[in-house]
Amino acid sequence: MASILVTGATGLLGSSLVPALRAAGHVVHSHGHSHAAEQQADLGDWRQTAAMLDRTRPDCIVNLAALTNVDLCESEPQQAYRLNTLPVAHLARWMRDNSAGGVPACHLVQISTDMVYDSAGPHAEGDVRVANTYAFSKLAAEHAAAGVSSTVLRTNFFGRSRRAGRVSFSDWLVQGMREGRAMTVFDDVLFTPLAIDTLCALLAQVVQARPAGVYNLGARDGMSKADFAYLLAAALDLPTAGLQRGRSADAPALRARRPTDMRTDSSLFEHTMGLRLPTLAEQIQSLRSDYLEPA
Ligand SMILES: NC(=O)c1ccc[n+]([C@@H]2O[C@H](COP(=O)([O-])OP(=O)(O)OC[C@H]3O[C@@H](n4cnc5c(N)ncnc54)[C@H](OP(=O)(O)O)[C@@H]3O)[C@@H](O)[C@H]2O)c1
Repeated sequence: MASILVTGATGLLGSSLVPALRAAGHVVHSHGHSHAAEQQADLGDWRQTAAMLDRTRPDCIVNLAALTNVDLCESEPQQAYRLNTLPVAHLARWMRDNSAGGVPACHLVQISTDMVYDSAGPHAEGDVRVANTYAFSKLAAEHAAAGVSSTVLRTNFFGRSRRAGRVSFSDWLVQGMREGRAMTVFDDVLFTPLAIDTLCALLAQVVQARPAGVYNLGARDGMSKADFAYLLAAALDLPTAGLQRGRSADAPALRARRPTDMRTDSSLFEHTMGLRLPTLAEQIQSLRSDYLEPA
């Protein structure tokens, strides 16, 4: 079993991934920045990053550290670069410095985003077009990862958050529907996310198989955020009185422009890993255990 460093382990995905990798039998070092974890480091700082890697000497790094607030990335591009791009350049530099005789001692799994697409989907990996600074900084991180032994996964996810104070898209919908809050859900925004638990199980396979290159990793098929909301309500027996279908262009403008079609075609990942990904409807159904059981 591998020794894995999960950077950004204190975030939404990391709070589920660390226990999932441990349950799969891996030795896991968890990293955080402002929240407590086994390892603390500012990954925008080369010395702190190198010192943490010298201490832990992992076989594999799964990098989740990021500035995920898309509007903040737009208003603070320096921070987007520092938290999304520079950490990967630092991880890759340490990996290059520590590969023996050209043989890589460590593999990097870089979690990227479906927001690197901005045209009509479903998108193949070559379809890249960036709509905002977040997407640009994540794409630059992919290029930093390409210089070392790495797997880049362009994904999106939903499910019950295990990190206090951080809500996922499905958490936002479930809370709103339970409270009967008025919420507009978009008919024209399409995506192919996976349930967090499915993504974590797939990541446990990826750290073993270490497929090289860039892959989309999403559900087999996509749907609109509006259809997602209504299917989620049906799966969890929640009232839909507060939900209203709308179009993204009619909503108040946000600082960063969002793509409307982020659907990914994950057949390259399926073929490479020899598996079949679930449909989005199946993934929504799988949330019953997340939301209908006590935390
Ligand atoms: N959330 C989504 O819907 C979504 C969709 C597609 C792709 N992704 C990608 O998936 C990955 C995980 O996303 P997430 O939602 O789990 O992220 P998140 O909840 O926003 O967590 C971000 C993580 O980055 C760490 N971090 C922030 N600044 C740092 C710094 N200077 N040095 C080191 N670490 C720092 C945070 O640590 P502290 O909290 O301890 O400061 C936290 O662990 C990201 O790469 C994101 O781009 C996310």
